[in-house]
Amino acid sequence: MSTTKSQELYRRAQQVIPKGVSGHYGYAVDAESPVFFESSGGSRFIDIDGNSYVDWMCAYGPMILGYNHPIVDEAAQRQMAAGNTVSLAGPVMVELAEHLVQMVSGVDWALFGKNGADSTGLAVMVARAATGRKYIVKVDGGYHGSAPWMQATGSPGTVAEDQALVCSVPWNDAAALQRAIDAHPDDVACFISSPYHHPVFADNVLPADGYWAAVEAMCRRAGVVLIVDDVRAGFRINLAGSHVAYGFQPDLVCFGKALGNGYPIAALTGTDALRDAATETFYTGTQFFNAAPMAAALATLQQLAEVDAAQRITETGERLSRGLVEAAAAHGYELRASGVPGMPYYRVLSDAGPAFHARWIAECVKRGAYLLSYHNAFVSTAHSDADLERTWEISDRAFQALSDSA
Ligand SMILES: Cc1ncc(COP(=O)(O)O)c(C=O)c1O
Repeated sequence: MSTTKSQELYRRAQQVIPKGVSGHYGYAVDAESPVFFESSGGSRFIDIDGNSYVDWMCAYGPMILGYNHPIVDEAAQRQMAAGNTVSLAGPVMVELAEHLVQMVSGVDWALFGKNGADSTGLAVMVARAATGRKYIVKVDGGYHGSAPWMQATGSPGTVAEDQALVCSVPWNDAAALQRAIDAHPDDVACFISSPYHHPVFADNVLPADGYWAAVEAMCRRAGVVLIVDDVRAGFRINLAGSHVAYGFQPDLVCFGKALGNGYPIAALTGTDALRDAATETFYTGTQFFNAAPMAAALATLQQLAEVDAAQRITETGERLSRGLVEAAAAHGYELRASGVPGMPYYRVLSDAGPAFHARWIAECVKRGAYLLSYHNAFVSTAHSDADLERTWEISDRAFQALSDSA
């Protein structure tokens, strides 16, 4: 499988785009990888060298129903023909908010933006507006976007003051959260966390029994706004919100990624208690009112329910992981799958460490199964039995290649 054209275009890109491909897509680029796509459809994409891949990254989450989904695209195009970015909001904004509020458990309103960071950034502003408090508590290794408050201290382009009001506690450690709250009496505005822990470069970890119940009770007691960042996991665990799967009720729930099946849209949803704070918080963007992505999101949510997406994705993910673990075992390797089945994080255990796992991933990509070594994968409703079989076969050959070169 040659990636010559991708690599040539990447060299051209580096002349005019810092890093060639910026942001999170840039981390996936190495000297052999595909970099640019030619086309996509369903569960697959074709790179500009003509190689076809079963895509288990799903554009890092947005693709949940399949690329170029006809019903979603049709809804977006219909809205586009009627109008997209106009001096008034489209009625579809109201329909989408009504649909989300009805679908997501325990929320009463929705506000829309474009990216996940729009919704997490708004969430912490609403929490501060509601409480009049300063501090944000998050989880070590938790990611909520590229805004300065979220970046690691010392990140180029940020100053220490950007993160000065952000405290970090270990995942699954309710006592540490209590200590963080106590360390800033009556000054912690919110606790923000994904529903389960999905860091990069590390096994993903589900909530321990009783963790979320303890966190919810603690936040209620201390008047701390509980924010669930469902930007990544949203709709892949439970269509009513991942908090339903883990049996608790947050005050604010952030969505992005899969909400529009690839169309740019994110949402913050919240409870009535925070409606006034959400009303008074200044939050806007030139493109926030694009009507076509809202129509796409509405169609996406309808389709997700129609095909029982979270259940289907979970089953497909369970089968994917089972087959990959078996393929590894057949070659004498141990593959660990962590996190939820619809967003599995894989790691081939080896004395050689992460480099060995990265080699297996590279061998899979070379043969047409697109995965990343340091990030959870994503499963969609478009992934078929044929995709599973192709991926298992590829992984088998990838393990064989590792054994051959040992
Ligand atoms: C859990 C989580 N929150 C927030 C974000 C930020 O979303 P975006 O990149 O769309 O701003 C991401 C992106 O990966 C995410 O995974």
